[in-house]
Amino acid sequence: MGLGITRMNYIALNARDPQAAAAHAEGFGFSVAHAAEDGTHYLKAHGPDPYSLVYKPSGDGPGMHHASYLVADAAALDAAVAQLEGEGVAVQRIEQPEWNHAPAARFRSPAGHLIELTTGVHLDRPVGHAAATPAAAPAPLAPDHVGLGARNFEIEEHFVEQTLGLLHSSRIRAKDGPQIMSFMRVPGRQLYHQLVVVRSHIDTLHHLQFTLKSVDSFYATHEAMVANGIDVEWGPLRHGPGHNIAMYFRDLEGHWIEYSVEEEIILDDATYIPRTWSTADTKVIDEWDSGPPPPSMMGPPPEKAHLYAKLGAALAQMKRPTLYACVSQVGPVPRPSPQIDVILEHLEWITELDRQGLIYAAGPFVTPEQSMQGDGLLIIRAESEEQARAIFAQDPIHQGGYREAHVFGWQLHQGRLNDLFDTVTQES
Ligand SMILES: [Fe+2]
Repeated sequence: MGLGITRMNYIALNARDPQAAAAHAEGFGFSVAHAAEDGTHYLKAHGPDPYSLVYKPSGDGPGMHHASYLVADAAALDAAVAQLEGEGVAVQRIEQPEWNHAPAARFRSPAGHLIELTTGVHLDRPVGHAAATPAAAPAPLAPDHVGLGARNFEIEEHFVEQTLGLLHSSRIRAKDGPQIMSFMRVPGRQLYHQLVVVRSHIDTLHHLQFTLKSVDSFYATHEAMVANGIDVEWGPLRHGPGHNIAMYFRDLEGHWIEYSVEEEIILDDATYIPRTWSTADTKVIDEWDSGPPPPSMMGPPPEKAHLYAKLGAALAQMKRPTLYACVSQVGPVPRPSPQIDVILEHLEWITELDRQGLIYAAGPFVTPEQSMQGDGLLIIRAESEEQARAIFAQDPIHQGGYREAHVFGWQLHQGRLNDLFDTVTQES
């Protein structure tokens, strides 16, 4: 039956420096409506709402504080709270929440995302249709959806469907893998999606979105943002699900923000059949085929980014030698056997190579009777295949044409080096 959500209201984000984040947001079309004593900054967009983006001071780094959705009126709010509590969801009623804010109720999704219900500006159509055309750019109107990451995708999706009462507009499945996204809409509100559930390695905000008025406004906004020094890292592009034209950039705190326009509307919930896309189809992320999203968008959330950077730096410090398997073989052409002096030279050469620390493993191929047949395997460290070939070619066995040299790039994946034995020093 749902909670009676009508539309998104605003999105509140955590910020280490809300004032700096708010000043930066002016570059992508927001203006400060109010700065509270606790440092919270309320930012107005170009739509009908008193504010659409909020930065809250946080010592924990970035992330979503809460996503605010509207219900029709106070009675609808009471009914929603009663229903949530009836389903065992802990709800916090807030009678005097924040600046310029009606009474609200807040609760958490299974992944821990704080969701707020309150009352505000009621629209009978999606904001992209209802709002007046802005006079200038950049001009975001209002948020229409938020993407919420969840480790336990299925449980979060079930909550959004069963408890919030949203309907599927589409699903995305990984190629040969599980479902990774669900685009969910509020019944009877026409808009394609008000919430996206995203399979994620951590329960975190994936992205927040704001709707623009028109394609003209979208491109004017793009130009103005670029002129303001905002790095639009992905787009303009046209998404498969929702068919909206979109572009993505990051705010000062690293949150991914989507600006989009011309989102598909659904006029009849009863007859709409949700589509399932596969990531094998490149048109999912962009019908214009502009390429994949920036890796950082699919990567760690901003609040963990410093940890991943630390991991990357640590890995870069580790010596992970490139290995080459070098095989010495008689080959199909009959060849003379090397004389004893050549064999001794070969032994000297390979011992010197070992002294230089270049040998990972080396040894001859042997017969069932354990006698050497003349062919051998040498695994060496080298900077490149070219260098490995040059090293292997120095073997007097190859110099004299007694064997063919074959070099293959090789990786150590499994194995136990329990007995480390230095054949040169005879020490273990
Ligand atoms: Fe989105």
